[in-house]
Amino acid sequence: MTRPSVCILGGTGFVGRHLVARLAQKNFDVKILTRARARHYGLLVLPSVTLVEADVHDAAVLRREFAGCDGVINLVGILNERGHRGKGFHRVHVELARKILDACRASGVSRLLHMSALNAGERAPSHYLRTKGEAAALVLKTADELHVTVFEPSVIFGAGDSFINRFAALLRKMPAVFPLACARAKFAPVYAGDVAEALIRSWDNPASFGRRYGLCGPKTYTLRELVRDTARVMGLRRVVIGLPSALSWLQAALMEWLPGKPFSLDNYRSLKLDSICNHDGFAAFGIEPVSLEAVLPGYLGNRSAQARLDGLRRRHNQAV
Ligand SMILES: NC(=O)c1ccc[n+]([C@@H]2O[C@H](COP(=O)([O-])OP(=O)(O)OC[C@H]3O[C@@H](n4cnc5c(N)ncnc54)[C@H](OP(=O)(O)O)[C@@H]3O)[C@@H](O)[C@H]2O)c1
Repeated sequence: MTRPSVCILGGTGFVGRHLVARLAQKNFDVKILTRARARHYGLLVLPSVTLVEADVHDAAVLRREFAGCDGVINLVGILNERGHRGKGFHRVHVELARKILDACRASGVSRLLHMSALNAGERAPSHYLRTKGEAAALVLKTADELHVTVFEPSVIFGAGDSFINRFAALLRKMPAVFPLACARAKFAPVYAGDVAEALIRSWDNPASFGRRYGLCGPKTYTLRELVRDTARVMGLRRVVIGLPSALSWLQAALMEWLPGKPFSLDNYRSLKLDSICNHDGFAAFGIEPVSLEAVLPGYLGNRSAQARLDGLRRRHNQAV
């Protein structure tokens, strides 16, 4: 039997690393397109994984790299853009999705898995969600010619995540009191391993062609509860104080000018919508999602080995 071959964009990121590990285990040939190969040599320890340095925004490069693959997975996404008016989001989410669809057609690739986000929609309040929605709509529009599936997760957790780990880093720095913007926003955090499994199970499942799936964990939390639980697992005593709406806005407006934009007005607007599912996408793939409580202590408690490795890897990458 021939091994299925998949080309992944965004495969070096947090979700990508969870997905690629599972794909390698399941005997897929995996080609990851990345902007900076030297930063991700760690992925090459996996059998049957190749890393190709490529400009994924170049249509000719996509056509060349997709040729001969059975399918493509697009995990590329940004939470913040360089500017402030949505152009960066549009380029990375919408224009790239369009180029990927064109390249799939041109190189005869018929299977495409596309990662979107819960609440993505053309009328959503943030550039992030609007452009994610526009891209998902473009992808689904091709369902009569390509076998496309769109995934819309709530916030994703697991070793190497940026959401929980960001709060963990802030909690370490803040003594006693932790002022929190948008504390009442709701999430149904979903484990990266479950998201990866849903993608893999959909791969050759015709029932998933032309469909979109919301992916949520088993429990809903407010942001305040998530931060409190994070502090508890880390063994830190912190009082989490929810900021009123005007102060949350102000915090976002100030922080979007800091290096790396730790919080932005666009993030603030995304948080206006609760990130919870109205139907269970996992059921279609026979997956029972694991809870945050079952996984969090494994990568957060006492600076786990994984966190130390991630730190060493980050320092190495900065030095390259
Ligand atoms: N993490 C979550 O909680 C969450 C929740 C809902 C939806 N999602 C969606 O899931 C997908 C994966 O998320 P993630 O957390 O794994 O993201 P991530 O860790 O930030 O990784 C995204 C990858 O996209 C590539 N990328 C970033 N900016 C790019 C650009 N300007 N042009 C081309 N490629 C670029 C990078 O690959 P290279 O640097 O190797 O080129 C990076 O490894 C995204 O589409 C995201 O929107 C994530």
